[in-house]
Amino acid sequence: MFLLKFACTFILSMTLVIGAHSAAVHVDRRATDAEISLYMQAHNSLRTIYNASAVTWNDTLAQYAQNYVNKCIYAHSNPDPYGENIAAGYGSSYGIAKGLQDWANENSTYNYNKPKASHFTQMVWKSSLQLGCAVQTCTLPVLGNHLSTYIVCEYYPKGNVNGRFPANVNQPVSS
Ligand SMILES: *[C@@H]1O[C@H](CO)[C@@H](O)[C@H](O)[C@H]1NC(C)=O
Ligand SMILES: *[C@@H]1O[C@H](CO)[C@@H](O)[C@H](O)[C@H]1NC(C)=O
Ligand SMILES: *[C@@H]1O[C@H](CO)[C@@H](O)[C@H](O)[C@H]1NC(C)=O
Repeated sequence: MFLLKFACTFILSMTLVIGAHSAAVHVDRRATDAEISLYMQAHNSLRTIYNASAVTWNDTLAQYAQNYVNKCIYAHSNPDPYGENIAAGYGSSYGIAKGLQDWANENSTYNYNKPKASHFTQMVWKSSLQLGCAVQTCTLPVLGNHLSTYIVCEYYPKGNVNGRFPANVNQPVSS
């Protein structure tokens, strides 16, 4: 037996805009090599399953994500021409790996006959070949003003384009 510690963990992931504001007080930062590895590994292992070629890291996208996440506003930045996934959570087990795994787990509800945009579909979107992500510690009203980890990833070219799902979200490659 082991004790579950879910009680103090709350997670949010968004693909659509909601209004949310918060004061931003923190230092600027940029993704460390270890963080870049986590972002790349989470995306590319999933992309392998979904027969999409690997994304490459793009510092322009990462800087855009960093500038935006630093504002600690939990909503989409409307980053045209990029695609964007955002997530936030708090608790000791929440971080980049957990946030991106939550996105990937949306694969279990994807319906090829009724394609619908999700974090998962942006992650594996075949024609989205460049990635840049950033993280910041924020006090987010949508998370009860807990000190939270806020994650933003930008994708180029952008995914989740209506009418393009069949061509960009492949069936998983059988193992
Ligand atoms: C990185 O992304 C920017 C913005 O989309 C683009 O202008 C630039 O060419 C990309 N860099 C590389 C090395 O592809
Ligand atoms: C969803 O992705 C996971 C990896 O994150 C994989 O193990 C699993 O087989 C996938 N599920 C489906 C339904 O494709
Ligand atoms: C994976 O995609 C390539 C084209 O990019 C295609 O030729 C191949 O048949 C696909 N593999 C599977 C298992 O769907």
